Amino acid sequence: MKISNAKGLSGTVSIPGDKSISHRAIMFGAISEGMTEITNFLEGADCLSTISCFQKMGIEIERQAGRVLVFGKGLHGLCAPSATLDVGNSGTTTRLISGILSGQNFTSRLNGDDSIQKRPMKRIMTPLQMMHADIKSDRGNDCAPLTIRGTSLKGIHYQSPVASAQVKSCVLLAGLYADDITSVSEPSVSRNHTELMLSAFGADIQTEGTTASIIPNPVLSGQKVIVPGDISSAAYFIAAGLIVPESEILIQNVGVNPTRDGILRIALQMGGKIEKLNERTVSGEPVCDLLVRSSSLHAATVEGDMIPTLIDEIPVIAVMAAFAQGTTVIRDAAELKVKESNRIDTVVSNLSAMGCEITPTDDGMIIHGGRMLHGNTVDSHLDHRIAMSLAIAALAADGETTIKDGECVDISYPNFYRDLEALKK
Ligand code: S3P
Repeated sequence: MKISNAKGLSGTVSIPGDKSISHRAIMFGAISEGMTEITNFLEGADCLSTISCFQKMGIEIERQAGRVLVFGKGLHGLCAPSATLDVGNSGTTTRLISGILSGQNFTSRLNGDDSIQKRPMKRIMTPLQMMHADIKSDRGNDCAPLTIRGTSLKGIHYQSPVASAQVKSCVLLAGLYADDITSVSEPSVSRNHTELMLSAFGADIQTEGTTASIIPNPVLSGQKVIVPGDISSAAYFIAAGLIVPESEILIQNVGVNPTRDGILRIALQMGGKIEKLNERTVSGEPVCDLLVRSSSLHAATVEGDMIPTLIDEIPVIAVMAAFAQGTTVIRDAAELKVKESNRIDTVVSNLSAMGCEITPTDDGMIIHGGRMLHGNTVDSHLDHRIAMSLAIAALAADGETTIKDGECVDISYPNFYRDLEALKK
């Protein structure tokens, strides 16, 4: 994929559905009674992996223009898959579905692509095993492929060492099948879409501070879910509007759940001109439109409890920092090493190749901003968020940038390049 410098950006972009919420709507619909209708579902490869896993367990799922219908069979209605469930590149599918599969009365096997086979699964295996789940890494390396033999589960209180919504959601979903209440505490609050949506489907979930608890064996009922636009996808346009001179963009339909909106808080702190318009609530989630204008950015420190609220946006925050005056420090973000790529390495190597002064640290990076970047050949490492972040850097860099394996944006935003080109003046 080739991207050249932009003289300015203008116009309107409407953000596709949230990836986290789309996954959950399929999963919760599948284990509810009756039909779930999902509007603005994200047709990205990751969410399609979730659909295919549930279809292999006997759930009828109909994809129509602009919506998806899931014909749920209730908590105990899944059937044994006849083949390995293919989770593709999706960590969310792997970790959340493992919680559900642990409580079934059949055996299943999960596997995916090269990246998923390197991502840590011990973080879910440990709490699931504490619940008496029978989950094993086939190669004994705590990664997929995983084999899960369904068993009776025990309710536990789990103190998670990481702030991870995937771990929290996995344990809460297993908690649906447990013999007693299950709760999870985490070091900082991670995204809470599971808690919000599963409650709307009829589960009894309580949240207090950094702890979420679930009562087992509820009757879940199919719902109508309207998926808000994904702030993680909006982040690329927020950054582009801020760093490309002579730009003004209206970004429509952005989910701004406070457990996800760290990118907005950091962009404002860096001096970004961003206005929230038309604030509303969609399927229990706060949503708005964002008006973004070119801004003179200055450096910020990104750390602490804020990290889980912007974890997927750190690559594009690094791009913003490259165009900001001063030194930006990103710390407390060691989780970046275990995403679709090691995002400390892939951000640092690619932005360095474009002329940025950037140093990796153990838990983040340090970016000395304010230098002009130059187009070059860069490598997505098949990581969708790296590809999109580099595309934004390319818009503000001089010359032309070639992004190797740039089509991996299909994972979360299939029309990304088309939407970006449409904004160029
Ligand atoms: C997600 C949670 C985050 C995020 C991922 C999606 C989710 O992972 O990085 O893209 O849908 O729960 P962690 O919760 O493991 O940090």
